[in-house]
Amino acid sequence: MPFTQHHLSFALGSEIKGLDLSQTIDQPTIQALRKALAERGFLLFRNQDITPEQHIAFTKQFGELQPHSLDHYLHPEYPEIFVVTNRLQNGKPSETRNTGREWHMDLTYTKTPCMGSLLHCKEIPSAGGDTLFASLYKAYDELSDGMKEVLGKLNAIHDFANVSDLKNRTPESVKHLVEKNPPVTHPLVKEHPETRRKVLFFSDAVTSQIEGFSEEESQPILDFLAKHTTRVEFTYRHQWQINDLIFWDNRCVIHMAPPDYDRNDPTEKRHMFRTTLKQSLA
Ligand code: OGA
Ligand code: MN
Repeated sequence: MPFTQHHLSFALGSEIKGLDLSQTIDQPTIQALRKALAERGFLLFRNQDITPEQHIAFTKQFGELQPHSLDHYLHPEYPEIFVVTNRLQNGKPSETRNTGREWHMDLTYTKTPCMGSLLHCKEIPSAGGDTLFASLYKAYDELSDGMKEVLGKLNAIHDFANVSDLKNRTPESVKHLVEKNPPVTHPLVKEHPETRRKVLFFSDAVTSQIEGFSEEESQPILDFLAKHTTRVEFTYRHQWQINDLIFWDNRCVIHMAPPDYDRNDPTEKRHMFRTTLKQSLA
């Protein structure tokens, strides 16, 4: 199936035009999308008025779905869908209104972070509610040779308890999540399994310490990495429209949702559906 690809920023992102995701996409096209995704970090499809079933079916063409570890945020009818919303859920404030408000990759506080996620926009506030992305390829490439060598030998600890917005959640759910997700380690430099390019595997939200270093020794390195991975020239900022779908490759980009649109006005609503793919590709 023919489609065209348009770069969205210098560092990352492509808009894909010409595909209707409510239809079954043929395998050669899926392979071409997979290649574009791995190279560009995320793909944007606009005007996709798709049902949850179609969203799930499109996702499954890329591999197996990942059951989300934050298991109390799932869509009641479609457990494959994680609902990112500030709408009330079961009459209570939704905890997913705080999803991703610091720079991060998804699920790196587990041993097997996901391969990618597909976020579909259902409802947007009058202003704000954007999502930012940054390229971890660029972050690696722009390090000096000396720093590449040093970081290439290190592992970092990823700890869910490091997430700063936990104070906005209920103590019971924080306890549940922290107990379920003890700290894990990942190398600070990883190779993307498809492009074979190196990425700087750092998540400001959860990377809490360099393995084998004291907190005091780690912190200046973490501060540098937080600043470096989010340099403006490595980023793209997406202003959502209803029925946009963004598919990001969690192995080479970080992302974040600035906490802005509902700070002063709780009637501003943002509602998104997300599917998640397991790390290993089919
Ligand atoms: C996520 C996430 C950000 C957003 O779903 O993993 O970080 O903009 N979402 O909703
Ligand atoms: Mn996220």
